[in-house]
Amino acid sequence: MFFRRWLANPLQMGSVVPSSPALCRRLVAQSRVAPGQSVLELGAGTGVISRALLDAGLPPERLVVVEIVADMAAHLRRVLPGATVIEGDARELPRLLAPELSARIGAVICGIPLVLLPRAEQARFIDAIEAVAPGRGFLHYSYCVTSPLPWRKHALTARREAWTPLNFPPASVWRYQPENKAAAAPGPHG
Ligand SMILES: C[S@@+](CC[C@H](N)C(=O)[O-])C[C@H]1O[C@@H](n2cnc3c(N)ncnc32)[C@H](O)[C@@H]1O
Repeated sequence: MFFRRWLANPLQMGSVVPSSPALCRRLVAQSRVAPGQSVLELGAGTGVISRALLDAGLPPERLVVVEIVADMAAHLRRVLPGATVIEGDARELPRLLAPELSARIGAVICGIPLVLLPRAEQARFIDAIEAVAPGRGFLHYSYCVTSPLPWRKHALTARREAWTPLNFPPASVWRYQPENKAAAAPGPHG
């Protein structure tokens, strides 16, 4: 399914194969939330990162995923029972997420290949995330050697949290946060 979608729209998929278990582990380690908070995954694809979050103890009712491709959203509903799967465009997050879902977001993982987009388009995603999860920032995985986002131009801070050669291609996990907001202290999955 992943490869078929890549053939259909390589810019939207950004990768030929799903994220590896090593990359999933690194994302899980960086996306710990306090008890009662949810994780929001944007561009969940085949759901391997979401699955790893659930396997690490995140209760399914505290997982919200957004995926633009209808077939993939249907697949996510099958493989992530109990999670909230929303078929839609992450640029429309404020419209897609009910306020009670937004209010609980503790961490955001963005798998959408932002590096391939013009800056104004990147800003639409960044603004949408900030609108539903103010001050939280987001984790973003990327195959770039340097930051996939021009973070200063987006008024973000950037930190490379992890890197793994055990992904095709080797991948980094970046944490971006609004420049003027303090980092929310991560806690264990509750
Ligand atoms: C790099 S792939 C995600 C890979 C995923 N981690 C996996 O292993 O299956 C990027 C995903 O983002 C989705 N996507 C791209 N643009 C999107 C958008 N505007 N809103 C929501 N999802 C989007 C694509 O359909 C694709 O599933």
